[in-house]
Amino acid sequence: MSISFENKVALVTGAARGLGREHALELARRGARLVVNDFGGAVDGQSASETAVEQVASEIRTLGAEVIADSGSVSQPEDAEAMVKKAVDAWGRVDILINNAGILRDKSFAKISAEEFEGVIAVHLLGSFYCTRAAWPFMREQAYGRIVMTSSPSGLYGNFGQTNYGAAKLGLVGFMNSLKIEGAKYNIHTNAIAPVATTRMTESLMPEPVLKKMKPELVTSGVVFLCSEQAPNGVILQAAGGTFSVAAVVENKGVDLGEDASAEDVAEHFEQISDISQVKPRSGLSL
Ligand code: NAI
Repeated sequence: MSISFENKVALVTGAARGLGREHALELARRGARLVVNDFGGAVDGQSASETAVEQVASEIRTLGAEVIADSGSVSQPEDAEAMVKKAVDAWGRVDILINNAGILRDKSFAKISAEEFEGVIAVHLLGSFYCTRAAWPFMREQAYGRIVMTSSPSGLYGNFGQTNYGAAKLGLVGFMNSLKIEGAKYNIHTNAIAPVATTRMTESLMPEPVLKKMKPELVTSGVVFLCSEQAPNGVILQAAGGTFSVAAVVENKGVDLGEDASAEDVAEHFEQISDISQVKPRSGLSL
């Protein structure tokens, strides 16, 4: 089985460097026409430059692929609309959206400001919302779409100094969980990638041997699958240095404490209630 994106149009956000750049190049090699977006800022989202995204666009052109560069910010609704419009004006459709743009503003919770919290939510969570909202009507109309949310192990499991980032990244999973249901009948599949890769975002965080192993292109292999016609719907795919796994929300069987269950009953049975040695994933409609 080979995966091709001939006749497909893709938008990749945060595509100037790191993971987004790898995703865009690989989609181009496999025949996609692309809008590559990046506002060209530093890791913390400060400053901006159009050059970075122009560079990746010219790399893509040398591969013989059609590409449009966009230097808007995903956290501005009108910029998100404009980047989708570029794809639709040029090629009449948008099949694939990879919500990849991201920043870090790490701070321990005791010290974090509202601005540092909101800034990170604005790029990851609201940015993915704005871009997805802009692409959604076209995907519905053409009855085809593949959307990838970029989550993170930090969101799934937590990390010191990343309450803002973790909230945004797990928020994207919640966003996906409802979109997978709303998109199903239009053949719009939404999935999340939880990557680990060596990029400027992580290069100071991991030791040298790990950095060598965590090649961004190994995350791209998972993302390319999630962009393909064979993509599942509603999966959290973890990708790190060639190892792929699925993370899921699971629950245990529960303990029936009866109609008069009190707080003390819950406390008394908490060991049993919280026993997750026998769990199953929960899927479908939630409460
Ligand atoms: P990176 O810093 O190399 O790339 C992120 C890109 O997003 C940059 O080119 C930046 O200019 C762009 N960007 C930031 N804010 C933007 C905005 N408002 N509008 C448009 N573009 C914007 O980082 P990396 O590692 O490639 O990260 C890609 C995604 O993967 C991010 O969402 C990140 O949170 C996520 N991630 C990365 C992990 C890793 O191990 N590298 C781990 C878990 C998640």
